[in-house]
Amino acid sequence: MSGLEIQPMLPMERLRREVAPGAVQLPNWLSLDQQREIVEACRGWAAGPVPLRHTRLPTGNVMSVQTVCLGWHWSPYKYTRTAEDAGGAAVAPMPDWLVELGQTAVAEAYGDPDAGQAYRPDTALINFYDDQARMGMHQDKDEKSNQPVVSLSIGDTAVFRFGNTENRNRPYTDVELVSGDLFVFGGPSRFAYHGVPKVLPRSADPACGLAAGRLNLTLRTTGLSLASSAELPTAHDRST
Ligand code: SIN
Ligand code: MN
Repeated sequence: MSGLEIQPMLPMERLRREVAPGAVQLPNWLSLDQQREIVEACRGWAAGPVPLRHTRLPTGNVMSVQTVCLGWHWSPYKYTRTAEDAGGAAVAPMPDWLVELGQTAVAEAYGDPDAGQAYRPDTALINFYDDQARMGMHQDKDEKSNQPVVSLSIGDTAVFRFGNTENRNRPYTDVELVSGDLFVFGGPSRFAYHGVPKVLPRSADPACGLAAGRLNLTLRTTGLSLASSAELPTAHDRST
């Protein structure tokens, strides 16, 4: 034997990563079973009472992703209890299991059980991306709360662009969000610009429950109370 040993190539292990202060990626956070269960739940929510739809922006453009919401209905740029721009039905409730998953996500992302306990998401935006769908750089700023955003990705890998809090330009970091990945952004990064410039077709293991495309769930705390469920518009500048 020569002294040269050939090591087999292993896929690069993806590790917890803090992309910016308060912005944490935990790869492979959801098991395949959990991913399939969430996909099934999303199929149910997409069927109604409010249908999965392309959101129309005030510019007249429609977003390329398709969205359905839980707890509160988001339309540009406010949260309401009924989906006035999508048939008028009352939005489906936010299930307790999803709130609890969000609490565990925050606790594990920050290594802080108290932060997990304190987390009270009351809405989820479920976005479906086909191969062509994208999302322009924007801030999640229609919430009257600075609690973190919890993002769960299932299906095809996305290039997630995570930027700064000043504007939609550089500096930013491109992160690949793979099926099962968790990304939490809170603290100094809560109002950072972010977007999805690209989805990589057929990159997921179909065992995740999705043969094609990508699902992303973002859990948020609106800061709205049921008593004051009136529309609260905010100045905004989101692009598709
Ligand atoms: C969003 O910014 O609301 C969605 C982000 C993503 O799809 O990863
Ligand atoms: Mn967003």
